Amino acid sequence: MVGEVRILVTFQRAQERLKEVLEMPEQDSTRVIRSLKENGWHVSGKLKQAYPQLEKQELAERVVEALARLLPLWSISYRDNILKPETVFGNDNPLILEIGFGMGETTQKIAQARPDDNFLGVEVFNAGVGALLKRIDDNQISNIRIIQHDAVEVVRDMIAPASLAGIHIYFPDPWPKKRHHKRRLVQSPFIQLLTSRLKPGGYIHCATDWENYAEQMLEVLSAEPMLSNTHDGYAPRPDFRPLTKFENRGLRLGHGVWDLIFTRNDTPTPELNWPKKE
Ligand SMILES: C[S@@+](CC[C@H](N)C(=O)[O-])C[C@H]1O[C@@H](n2cnc3c(N)ncnc32)[C@H](O)[C@@H]1O
Repeated sequence: MVGEVRILVTFQRAQERLKEVLEMPEQDSTRVIRSLKENGWHVSGKLKQAYPQLEKQELAERVVEALARLLPLWSISYRDNILKPETVFGNDNPLILEIGFGMGETTQKIAQARPDDNFLGVEVFNAGVGALLKRIDDNQISNIRIIQHDAVEVVRDMIAPASLAGIHIYFPDPWPKKRHHKRRLVQSPFIQLLTSRLKPGGYIHCATDWENYAEQMLEVLSAEPMLSNTHDGYAPRPDFRPLTKFENRGLRLGHGVWDLIFTRNDTPTPELNWPKKE
């Protein structure tokens, strides 16, 4: 009971704090709601996973209502300004960035298991943002914030150099065709940018179920001079990364999963001139 009261108080404080210090991301909620009204049916399959008991129409209404209520509480608008995590979270606990959280199953479990860390999830996918908001609300989680925007721009413009304790990139889109490999997230220039945002000693943890992408990740991460591999090659799955339903099914079918964990060394953070789009 004492535990429940403590969680409730933390949750209410987090809400009050956010209302105080954040400008309402009005334009974000309006944009997402408009997009769901216009395109909602295309994503209803994924939304159905988050709201399995609801019919199509109810589903859309419920999601729109949830987004309108929850986005201003737990999401931060993208802006070309360095984020102040202590203002956003109300404390200066270590900050972990997660890129592409999908439906947020892993994000939720890790954030609940690590209450003394803060988690900033970046995702572009409406249904995923809706699903993670629902998880935050249902479970009264106070250490997750969401930015719905391209992660490359978020890292470039909002994350201060040498400020992150960790980075999670789990099962990024594999782009299996060779001619599409250039679209993969884990590429040298982006890893260099990401590494510059890690504190010395901070970690980057990637996981994939595509062997060929795992090989690319190992090559790219090993070639980054500011990073050191914590293992000889691939790492065993650390206890804090839970097995998702999707991964469990793959493992039962005999598919492989590869984890990679590298840490940042303490050479000075380079100045990077990452190009901005016109
Ligand atoms: C294959 S899913 C994996 C989702 C989740 N991490 C998991 O393990 O189930 C990859 C996710 O990355 C997101 N994503 C891809 N590129 C992104 C980018 N540049 N910025 C933010 N999210 C991105 C996609 O929308 C998608 O939800």
